Amino acid sequence: MLVLGLETSCDETGLALFDSERGLLGQVLYSQIQLHAEYGGVVPELASRDHVRKLIPLLEQLLQQTGVTKQQINAIAYTRGPGLMGALMTGALFGRTLAYALNIPAIGVHHMEGHLLAPLLSSKPPQFPFVALLVSGGHTQLMAAYGIGQYELLGESIDDAAGEAFDKVAKMMGLPYPGGPNIAKLALQGDPKSFDLPRPLMHQALDFSFSGMKTAVLTRYNKVKGQGREADLAASFQEAMVDTLVKKAIRALKHTGLKQLVIAGGVSANQLLRERLESDLKKIKSQVYYAEPALCTDNGAMIAFAGWQRLKAGQMDDLSVTTTPRWPM
Ligand code: KG4
Ligand code: ZN
Repeated sequence: MLVLGLETSCDETGLALFDSERGLLGQVLYSQIQLHAEYGGVVPELASRDHVRKLIPLLEQLLQQTGVTKQQINAIAYTRGPGLMGALMTGALFGRTLAYALNIPAIGVHHMEGHLLAPLLSSKPPQFPFVALLVSGGHTQLMAAYGIGQYELLGESIDDAAGEAFDKVAKMMGLPYPGGPNIAKLALQGDPKSFDLPRPLMHQALDFSFSGMKTAVLTRYNKVKGQGREADLAASFQEAMVDTLVKKAIRALKHTGLKQLVIAGGVSANQLLRERLESDLKKIKSQVYYAEPALCTDNGAMIAFAGWQRLKAGQMDDLSVTTTPRWPM
């Protein structure tokens, strides 16, 4: 079965073709980062308009690149939610309409399930059951994943998401959007021990809180402004974030008795987080799995793959177009 995946929940237009026999045939991705950069964050209306502009040219590019014709596509999976309402509508309408015209099934996919399953596309995929640490711009969750669609929420952020904290701290320090990769880059030149930052909610089993961390960074930043301490602060902040995520992930492994940890979502691209998990999990005879960097942040491949898993299980949607901006998994 050949599935076209469409991702338009935020500021990336991602399309991909996944073949159940041959795997991922190809993907195209257009990032709107430049468009939103001057505003310091994503402007919803601009995002929707840009998705509309890019969907058809990107589909043509993907078909040309893979040598596939529209008629060979067997099903379409699009991101139904969570995300920005207008942005979601563009992909949902495009996917549902194209599926109707081609007389093939369409299915709306949960964006976070896409992230969670993306590591299964790697050459050494994890096997169910596993613990998943989902860390993106909108979510921070620990889940026990027992199979497709069988997810148990173990803990989550009670305020900001991990990616959001990276983005807000970056903005505060005058770094461009998106903050995560820019903080990580600047942190390479800093000393992670130079600022002692709090690790909020460490006493609370598996929930996270990152808004206090952001305030703590702001207080330090205002104190040392103009002293050229940005790299030290970025390194200390990244250290505190990674420390918190690693400790809670290990706690979730111990709590469930599982030995595999999957990290997914934009923040899972963070090099320090990966290194720390690799070494700390080895000590408890557990293993960490993640997607290749291009499949950590938003992309169409994870949606095509998650859609195929759902279609394989006999699910498909009717002709209505539904989007779900807020949608628990
Ligand atoms: O999953 P994603 O692409 O979009 C959402 O679904 O939110 O995640 C985007 C988030 C942004 O907050 C971005 O700053 C963060 O992932 N991010 C990173 C890194 N790369 C992306 N955070 C830390 N380190 C990175 N290397
Ligand atoms: Zn995402």
